[in-house]
Order: sequence, then structure tokens, then C-alpha cells
Amino acid sequence: MTNAKDNSMILVTGGLGFIGSHTVVALLEKGHQVLIVDDLSNSSVGVLDGIETASGIRPTFIKLNLQNGAAVAEMFQQHRITGIIHFAAYKAVGESVQKPVAYYQNNLGSMLNLLAEVEKAASPIPFIFSSSCTVYGEATKLPITENSPVQPAMSPYGNTKQIGEEILVDTVNAIEGFRVISLRYFNPIGAHPSIAIGELPLGKPQNLVPFITQTAAGLYPKLTVFGNDYPTSDGTNVRDYIHVVDLAEAHVVALERILESKSTEAYEVFNLGTGKGSSVLEVIQSFERVSGQKLTYEIGERRKGDVIAAYADTTKANTVLGWKTKRSLDEAVASAWKWEQKVRNL
Ligand code: UD1
Repeated sequence: MTNAKDNSMILVTGGLGFIGSHTVVALLEKGHQVLIVDDLSNSSVGVLDGIETASGIRPTFIKLNLQNGAAVAEMFQQHRITGIIHFAAYKAVGESVQKPVAYYQNNLGSMLNLLAEVEKAASPIPFIFSSSCTVYGEATKLPITENSPVQPAMSPYGNTKQIGEEILVDTVNAIEGFRVISLRYFNPIGAHPSIAIGELPLGKPQNLVPFITQTAAGLYPKLTVFGNDYPTSDGTNVRDYIHVVDLAEAHVVALERILESKSTEAYEVFNLGTGKGSSVLEVIQSFERVSGQKLTYEIGERRKGDVIAAYADTTKANTVLGWKTKRSLDEAVASAWKWEQKVRNL
């Protein structure tokens, strides 16, 4: 029997990265054929083995920096690409302040080269964009809905997400039939249940959960909690930590929404979170609960640029997209810890 997806090739840019690799596995599990493009600037080719272990399938991989427009054009000539999920981007907030040009060039140049190919295509290619809740800044109302105003970006990284969304809106308006979904992530954490793929931050991790697990693994003597004098229940920042496998599944649902012509608007935006806020101390407690060990930490100064609290209103994602998170904070933290133990041979 012919499967409707037989001819389709879904291009996943940054497909060897943290969220990208989990999304590739989710796509393969749903029977999609996947073409991964990654320049290995913040990932390793070994992730391909992990994807194969987790899914039983080894997808096609091309090592390519998407800033190379001629190479991108050639790739579109050689493969019948019927959907694009665009993750490839630099993502370190602090580094983006030091290297704004590199961030704008890479994050926006890559997207523009992809859109140039969409423009040339005989029929418009569905496009899913990896955006961030960072576009909301310090929201005045919680939980954060998609109607919450986009605030001036606090870093070049955040600005590339905002400008990326604006470029997509303009392109959707210009290309008849072009459909785009921007997914605004809250805080993705965790690893695939197979523990074949997970998060592999290069150097000292900036994000909370990798820092917790690397501290517990002995790489750092202690975790510093960045401030406990915020106006929250226990004084520490509140975030919406979402299991990366839940997040990955949302990408497949979003892609299929466009492929099956279910979009109600040409450009749609969804918040992807659990709807539940957790404080830094609650995440530490979750780690201690699932690992059965104490974490060494101290209370330090506030980190510049941190918002007080951010968590998603999931109504639109639940009702319009038809997607819900299934995994708890403890499950996510436990998987992150299992992954860390595997990576460190503990
Ligand atoms: C950060 C970025 C955000 C980006 C997201 C991607 C900043 C200011 N924000 O979000 O733009 O989209 O990562 O993953 O960098 N914390 C500690 N000690 C640590 C590390 C973190 O207390 O060693 C706290 C932070 O103060 C924060 C929470 O843990 O309250 C989560 O931090 P993090 O994982 O870096 O995520 P965000 O700051 O939400």
C-alpha cells in the first residue's frame, strides 16, 4: 500500500542539536522521511547514532552551514523537500551580546536562504520555526498567552527570534499558500527515554538543569542559585520546564497541521510549555527526589537579564493545535540525570 508520506522528505535544520534530534526521532516514529542538515558547530555527528538507536532508522545527513546559499539551493534541487523544521541557530544569550554580527548573520542568513528556496518552489513548503518565549520579555500577566505583547529584545539572540518571526510574517504575506507555524518554547529539559540522545552543552552550561546534573556528576563543586529575593513564592525565578520529548511531539503535530491543510491562518504562533511554573528551588528538589542525592548549592547574586517569572498559557496549543504535554517535571529531570550519568560513565 502506498503511504502518502512515501515521497516526502522533511528537512530538519539543526537536526543533530538538542531539540532537533528529539524532533527527528518523533518524525521518524510517525513515518516521515527526514533529511538532517547541521553544520556541527554545536553538535556532533555521533548524535546520528543516538537517533538510530532511539528510532531504529538512520536518516540522511548533510553537513552544511545554511549561510552558504549556493549549497542550500543545490540541496533543494537534489531532494524533494516537502516540509521544513528550522532549528539551526546560535543560542547562547551572553555570547550573542559579544558577537552580535555573527548571531544576526547566522540566525537570519540561514533563514533567508531557506526562504529563498521556498520562494522558488513550485508549491509552497510548510515551515515550522523554532522561536522562544524570550520574545515576551517580562510579561505583565501570567500565564503568558500568545496575545501577550512582544517586548523589545534583551539580547541579540532574542532579537534574532523576533526578527525571524517578522521575516516569516512578511514572507507569508507575499507567497500565496505559504503556511508557517512559529513555536515559542518555554524551558526544554530532559532526554529521550532510550537515553540514546539528550542535551550536550559545550563548555560550562548556562542553563539550569544541565548545570544541576553536571554539578551532581562532579564537574562543578556547586550550583549557584541566581538570586532568592524575587517576588515569587520562595524568592527564586519561576520557569516552565517542558520535557524535550513533549516539545518534539508538538513539532510533528504542527507540521502535520500544515501538511493536512488544517491551519486556520497562514501564520500561526503557539506557546509550548506545560502551563506550570516551577521555581529554581523546586527544580533542585525535583533533582534530589529523583536522584536520591543531595545537591550542593549556594544562593548568589541575581543574573543580569533574568525575568522574574514565565510560564505558558497552554489553552491555544491544547485546543487549536491539539497537543498536550504528557510528562512531569520529575520525569524530565530524571531523564536528564540518567543521560548525564551515561555521558560521564557514572
Ligand atoms: C535562558 C535564556 C533564554 C533562552 C533560554 C534557552 C537567559 C537570561 N535567558 O532562559 O533567552 O531562550 O535560556 O534555553 O540566558 N539558574 C540558576 N543557576 C544556574 C543556571 C540557571 O539559578 O546556574 C536559574 C536562572 O536564574 C533562571 C532559571 O535557573 O531563573 C533557568 O535558567 P536557564 O536554564 O538559563 O533558562 P532561562 O533563563 O529561562
